[in-house]
Amino acid sequence: MISLCGIVLVLRRVSVISLCGIVRSVCQRFARDGASVVVADISEDSANETLGILSHDLQGQEHAALCVDVSSRQSVEQLITLIQLQYFHPPCVCVSSAGITLDEFLLKLEEEAFDRVLRVNLKGSFLLTQAVSRALVASGSSKGVIINVGSIVGKVGNLGQANYAASKAGVEGLTKSAAKELGRFGIRCNTVLPGFIATPMTAKVPKRVLDKFEGMVPLGRLGEPADVADVCSFLASDESRYITGASIEVTGGLFMG
Ligand SMILES: NC(=O)c1ccc[n+]([C@@H]2O[C@H](COP(=O)([O-])OP(=O)(O)OC[C@H]3O[C@@H](n4cnc5c(N)ncnc54)[C@H](O)[C@@H]3O)[C@@H](O)[C@H]2O)c1
Repeated sequence: MISLCGIVLVLRRVSVISLCGIVRSVCQRFARDGASVVVADISEDSANETLGILSHDLQGQEHAALCVDVSSRQSVEQLITLIQLQYFHPPCVCVSSAGITLDEFLLKLEEEAFDRVLRVNLKGSFLLTQAVSRALVASGSSKGVIINVGSIVGKVGNLGQANYAASKAGVEGLTKSAAKELGRFGIRCNTVLPGFIATPMTAKVPKRVLDKFEGMVPLGRLGEPADVADVCSFLASDESRYITGASIEVTGGLFMG
């Protein structure tokens, strides 16, 4: 009960999130924790769909769905401006989890497929981290939380995912650097590293490959979006007040270091 209060206090303000699979679950968890949640995604339909399933149990909770292309500085800045106009303060928690895959073996990987994945996964995390932190610092807020969604693949690599693995390794380096710079402003920055989580993204992976990975997971199953959402909730809460610059693996033990 006490830790729930902690979470509510931290999250009653605004959280910016982009969506689906893992993210939809994060939005649901934060809404249950008492946050006002802004669901931001390049797909307006997906953002609105997520908005439609969020609970409003606490008085004063006000959720919103907005469109953003995280790879565009202009779009990200517009998003933060719109949030500040609507809520009169910047988001105090930002979960950056927009991500794409364009898988191909290295020998065949087109430069454009490399650039696109880096633009969304890595540059998008940079633009969001920078825009939210700037807004928090400018507002004089003494507290903020950035959670960037990386991947265990950024640590260990994966066949056919040189672009994706590079982008996610970059997200970890970006987040650790941000943690070093932003600690003095009370902004904590951490990365979560999901393993194989059953979502629309992994639905594209051939079943025999998923079965193979599932067989390698010490906890004996693929992850569920809620497994990641629970860790995000912890990182957004005051329970994790002394944690910054960390990368938390949510993999069921797969590829543990
Ligand atoms: N599913 C897994 O097993 C797994 C494992 C490790 C890491 N991840 C990471 O978790 C995050 C969420 O993945 P998911 O499985 O829920 O996938 P998902 O495809 O369901 O969600 C990704 C979301 O990002 C949005 N998006 C794509 N490009 C965008 C852009 N330019 N601007 C704004 N939004 C954009 C998509 O519309 C989609 O809603 C991703 O960053 C992914 O790389 C997933």
